[in-house]
Amino acid sequence: MVDKTLTHLSWDDFDEHRDPRPNENQFDAVVERAISRRGFLGGALAFGSGAAVFGAGLMSSTTASRAAGHAKFAFEAIGIATDHEVHVPAGYKSQVLVRFGDALWSEADNAYSPESVVSVEMSDKVFGENTDGMELFVIDGKEVIAVNSEYANPEINLPGAPDGVPQTADQVQVLKNIQGVTVMEIAMGETGYHVVKDSPFNRRITHETEMTLAGPLAGHDLVKTNADPEGRTVKGTMNNCGAGKTLWGTYLTCEENFNGYFGNTGEMPAGDGYTRYGIGGESRYAYEKFDERYDLSKEPNEPHRHGFVTEINPADATSTPVKRTALGRIKHENAEMVHAADGRIVVYMGDDERGEYLYKYVSTNTWAEGQPTDGLLDDGQLYVAKFNDDQTGAWLALTPETTGMDAAEILCFTRMAASKADGTTMDRPEWVAANPLKAEAYCALTNNKNRGKKPNAGGDDTAVNGPNPRETNNFGQIVRWTPADENHAAEAFTWDLYVMAGNPKVYSDAYAGSANVNEGNMFNSPDGMAFSSDGMLWIQTDGEDSNEGEFEGQGNNQMLIGDPESGEIARFMTVPNGAEVTGLCWSADKKVAFVGVQHPGGSWPDMSGLPRSSIVAVWREDGALIG
Ligand code: FEO
Ligand code: CA
Ligand code: CA
Repeated sequence: MVDKTLTHLSWDDFDEHRDPRPNENQFDAVVERAISRRGFLGGALAFGSGAAVFGAGLMSSTTASRAAGHAKFAFEAIGIATDHEVHVPAGYKSQVLVRFGDALWSEADNAYSPESVVSVEMSDKVFGENTDGMELFVIDGKEVIAVNSEYANPEINLPGAPDGVPQTADQVQVLKNIQGVTVMEIAMGETGYHVVKDSPFNRRITHETEMTLAGPLAGHDLVKTNADPEGRTVKGTMNNCGAGKTLWGTYLTCEENFNGYFGNTGEMPAGDGYTRYGIGGESRYAYEKFDERYDLSKEPNEPHRHGFVTEINPADATSTPVKRTALGRIKHENAEMVHAADGRIVVYMGDDERGEYLYKYVSTNTWAEGQPTDGLLDDGQLYVAKFNDDQTGAWLALTPETTGMDAAEILCFTRMAASKADGTTMDRPEWVAANPLKAEAYCALTNNKNRGKKPNAGGDDTAVNGPNPRETNNFGQIVRWTPADENHAAEAFTWDLYVMAGNPKVYSDAYAGSANVNEGNMFNSPDGMAFSSDGMLWIQTDGEDSNEGEFEGQGNNQMLIGDPESGEIARFMTVPNGAEVTGLCWSADKKVAFVGVQHPGGSWPDMSGLPRSSIVAVWREDGALIG
């Protein structure tokens, strides 16, 4: 039987269970050395007193002047919450747009009930579970949202399965169908935005949807299976976490913890690649018991076909999604595309696991609006980030020369290639967001909660130097970088920390956080991020919401808005206890923000029955712009 405890673990804890990692990473050692190198090291207090690694707007601040003015914010910052509601500032309103189980087509009206959840027949005709990254597109004058459904909550999705462990092929099919991607038209009506049922744009993409494998890995022996001896046609995109939008109007969905869907009923295939990605043992949802495709002993190459950035055309519900292997195979968080100053296409990507890396892809060819896009995401160079102590950095190309691996191996086992090229290991890189008003980008390093708690258990990186300034990093930080010559395709950059999260109510040392953290705006575990068109950084958290101990005063997970210039950060929204905030996009007229509320606790939003992940619309009562 499936290990029942697996279904109860968070994906982060599943990583720890399956694949324990070094508890330190090089990036924190680099930060620590950068501080001491500049002579700012005053013990651990260096972080709280505005050290050199913090942005220019933050350096003059002191711990004593933590209160921020919020002068640039068009709202009054809100306090924390510990309840099961959504809160937004005075003068703003919020309303649920769509919940897990809501119909996308009329035939699925009333498909959801808290008693039976959804039937297998209706499970791919409703809005998916655990809403995550999303983007809004304007197509033929219609507003269309593409949105990820990251994973399942089998304990509440499968009322007939004890402890949420699937017992039948139908129950596995329900789980396959409620994950993946939803494409749906939305429209403003008399009572606000709603989903347009039966729209020709509406689509569910599940773990069974056929897609194409493109780029250098397509057709390689590493991706051939019994069902696909050519290695070019794959079923399903899974654990769709963050997202991105291409410059040509398609959706990028990012496959994160794909490893957890594969299990082994017989002999485990050999190879370091399985271990490095945490593949083996039993899967989380018992897929391998009912579908040989997920059984490693039967289809050892199937997991090599997942862990990619997948491109979806939201304008054509019959189009075939394309997995872009040139962008590497990692636990992809999101994909932030920018148009580099030299005309090439750049995609920034984080690999969310302790001690993994930050990447970027640069297309070989340049592009301009109106030109063909063929090959832009298939022909290019993948790089891993190297952060130096002197606040410079370099993007290290992953090539046969730098890795000792061939081109296909680099794209299939990208983590191992990055280690061989000597990238800088990080504290769980989550979303990357690029400032639309200047050449700089930000990455949320969410936390490393097991630093100093667990032994240094392995992985292929043991090259950690120096003590870490924050041994148990429960709070996280956001790093930013400026590319050389303001060209995102450049190989050199400089970096600083935009914020080091912390708790100044509980701590007066490094754990108080950087100078732009105060008792009025504190948070932990930054995760989702996006820039609004006015150049403000919206920060979403996925952290500890007990409001106790070192998290006292931080309340439920939240969304904050940061000013890149001054460093000021203000709390804009809180979500129900138990939930994380993830996924953000804006209406075409920038008057409404759509925000994802994933895995809420209590009975939100119905206030009876089961909790349901939902997208919430937020707008200003005076109708002014919000994004
Ligand atoms: Fe799906 Fe790293 O969050
Ligand atoms: Ca995330
Ligand atoms: Ca997270």
